[in-house]
Amino acid sequence: MPQPLADAALDQLFRTARTYNGYLDRPVSEDQLVAIWDLLKMGPTSANQLPARIVWCVSDDAKEKLAAAASAANADKIRKAPVSAVIGMDLDFHEQLPWLFPHADAKSWFAGNEALRETSALRNSSLQGAYFILAARALGLDTGPMSGFDQGAVDAAFFAETPRVRTNFISTLGYGDPATISPRSPRPDFAMFNRIA
Ligand SMILES: Cc1cc2nc3c(=O)[nH]c(=O)nc-3n(C[C@H](O)[C@H](O)[C@H](O)COP(=O)(O)O)c2cc1C
Repeated sequence: MPQPLADAALDQLFRTARTYNGYLDRPVSEDQLVAIWDLLKMGPTSANQLPARIVWCVSDDAKEKLAAAASAANADKIRKAPVSAVIGMDLDFHEQLPWLFPHADAKSWFAGNEALRETSALRNSSLQGAYFILAARALGLDTGPMSGFDQGAVDAAFFAETPRVRTNFISTLGYGDPATISPRSPRPDFAMFNRIA
């Protein structure tokens, strides 16, 4: 039977984990990127849709292309990070459902309903983005998620060959440099944003 994680694990995943603006000069290997995927893909999505399509920018060229499509405040963070990831979402994710969700005809639930696919792709790729952040933390890495970018420009730069894939958000990845973060912003107690009905 699963037990609650030890305090050290909860700290690493949530309580002391931070969003980083810059990283230590310590490389991240392709094996680590695969290890992040192998954890994040296990997180649940509706009907096992797995709509996220991730481009891991490790070359200077790829990072420069992404930086050029980002806000001025984010561009340099992308250039300097060991890895910058584009978390895209496939609006035609339903084409994969016959093998991803084989025990029902889930493809037919979405075929011909673009609006439902857009809602579902955004919902589930955002969840996968959250799993990405937590998987990275679980493996001892840090992230810097960002929505400050021109979506059309990132789509054109990274998904021109797959036009049904659109960018959800982007994130840097590496070993966070504590010198690059500000004090933690407030987090409310349960009573403020919750109620038990
Ligand atoms: C989806 C998303 C988009 C964000 N966009 C930006 C951004 O464009 N630029 C930026 O500097 N930080 C961005 N952030 C960082 C947040 O401001 C940061 O995660 C939040 O303040 C919590 O910081 P903490 O994890 O250090 O407590 C984004 C975070 C998320 C999750």
